[in-house]
Order: sequence, then structure tokens, then C-alpha cells
Amino acid sequence: MKYLKYDGYNIPENLVILTGGGTDDWEEISNYHVEMYRKYAPINHDDFVLEVGSGVGRDAIQLTKILSPKGRYVGFDIIKPSIDWCKQNITKKHKNFTFHYYDIKSQIHNSEGTLSTLDIKLPAKDSSVDRIFLHSVFTHMFEKDIAHYLKEFRRVLKPGSLVIASFFVIDEKALKTLSESPNKAMRHPLAFKHKLSRNCYINDKDYPEGAVGYTPQKIKKMLLSAGLGIHGQHVHRGAWSGIKDASNGQDIIVLEKTSSVEAMAQYLQPLKFTGR
Ligand SMILES: C[S@@+](CC[C@H](N)C(=O)[O-])C[C@H]1O[C@@H](n2cnc3c(N)ncnc32)[C@H](O)[C@@H]1O
Repeated sequence: MKYLKYDGYNIPENLVILTGGGTDDWEEISNYHVEMYRKYAPINHDDFVLEVGSGVGRDAIQLTKILSPKGRYVGFDIIKPSIDWCKQNITKKHKNFTFHYYDIKSQIHNSEGTLSTLDIKLPAKDSSVDRIFLHSVFTHMFEKDIAHYLKEFRRVLKPGSLVIASFFVIDEKALKTLSESPNKAMRHPLAFKHKLSRNCYINDKDYPEGAVGYTPQKIKKMLLSAGLGIHGQHVHRGAWSGIKDASNGQDIIVLEKTSSVEAMAQYLQPLKFTGR
């Protein structure tokens, strides 16, 4: 078996590939994520960080350098060998870093899975978590599953705490840009030509979970139902949509618990985008 040597770890290359990206861009993606945290939701040393879709620990390894021994990290994923590797290697060195495997069925990562996302209670007590991170997770999921995780986020978040999640937010402008020139910079050119329902687009009819996007209206509806709002009120547009000079690949939305009045006020406004 081949390994990526990184920061004192020997990480199996096959698990690196399953986590997204390859050995060549491991460090670049790690740094991109850390910079995203610094910019949108800075982490305090003693925070409790929860990562949904923790893969083979790319972010966890970075977070071991940010969180103090009083801080805590919990990651979970649906790829068993990755979670086993994280337990045997990261938890072994950092006892405040723990990992859970859930056998959730997924067309991409776990086609034989026996659970649905709807079966999952996040591994955290009510109002206990400071930061939740998820990269390229909602971009492969359908509405009822996203809605379930969002409700769980509201349950586990402390007041004033934040979530960074990536999405494909599909509006007229993005669809027009992509129809003129599908985004070939991404590994699979994205055009989102197929509608799964009125407010949900997929990129490939034969492989629906490959990339899933939602209209601004649907995103706002899911957030309203979960009692979450957009921190800073803006979606940070990603390069996938054809926008120039974007600092993110996918669209980044920072979420927070919000009052029902604020949630309704955001729902009634058009979704706003920033370029960077
Ligand atoms: C693009 S990878 C990102 C991994 C990691 N955050 C990183 O950057 O290296 C997305 C991860 O989400 C996991 N995943 C997919 N569906 C999930 C679900 N319903 N619940 C939790 N994790 C899921 C996948 O197995 C995959 O490891």
C-alpha cells in the first residue's frame, strides 16, 4: 500500500483519494480550509468542533494544532476505513479528538450502507458545540437529509456559535453562465442541466448524488424550517458558478441559530451573494 507522509502521519493514499483531491493537493486543500475558518468563523483554542464528513482527517490534523487540550473535536464519516485510520492514528496522539463511523447509504461512498441520514443523531449534547464544519457534503445530498442535519445543527449548537457549510446555490445567473460554458475547472464539468424537482438540480441524470444544487428559495426554506439564519447575511459565491476571482470552490454559507423573527426576515429577503 502507498502512503502520503504528512505531519508525522502515514496516510493510506487510497483513503486520501476517497476524501477528495489527491496526495498532490492535500496540503493546499488543508490550508484552504484553515484559511476559510480564520476568515469566516475563527476558532477559539478551547472550542468544541464537530465535523460532518471528516474523511481521513485532513482538517482534524490541522485542528490538532489549533485546539488546546481543553478543546474538543468530534468527526464522523460514512467511510469505515477512514474512520478506523483516524481512531488508530489521530486519537492515539490526541485523546480530545474522537471519530465515529455511521453506515449511511450513499451512491458515492457507501452503496451498501444500512442507515439513512435521517437515522443519525449527531454525536453531541444539546447546545454544546461551538463550530460545525462540512465540506462537499450538502453538495451531494437530497433535501430531506439536509433538512435533518440542519435541525440537528440547531439542537447541538451553542447560542452564538457557527456552521461553515458548502452548497451549490443555483440561480438564473449561474445557470446562464454554466450553459454558455460548463465549468471545466472542476473535476467533473458542472452544468446542472437536470431538474430533480422544482428547486433541486442535479448535474448527471445517471449519477444524481454526483452533484446536487438548490435554488436560493429552497435554501432559505430549509434554513427557515430548521431555525437557522445566514451569519453576515451573504452567501460567499464559489468559482464553480463561473464567477471570477472567487476565493472558494463551492458556495460557502456560514450559519447560526437565529430567532424565528430573524429567520422569517431573512426568508422574505432575496439571498445576497458576495464575490469573495
Ligand atoms: C469531500 S469529503 C471531505 C472530507 C474532509 N472534510 C476533508 O476535507 O478532507 C466529504 C465527506 O463526507 C462524507 N459524507 C458523505 N455523506 C455523508 C453523510 N450523510 N454524513 C456524513 N458524512 C458524509 C464522505 O464520506 C466524505 O468523506
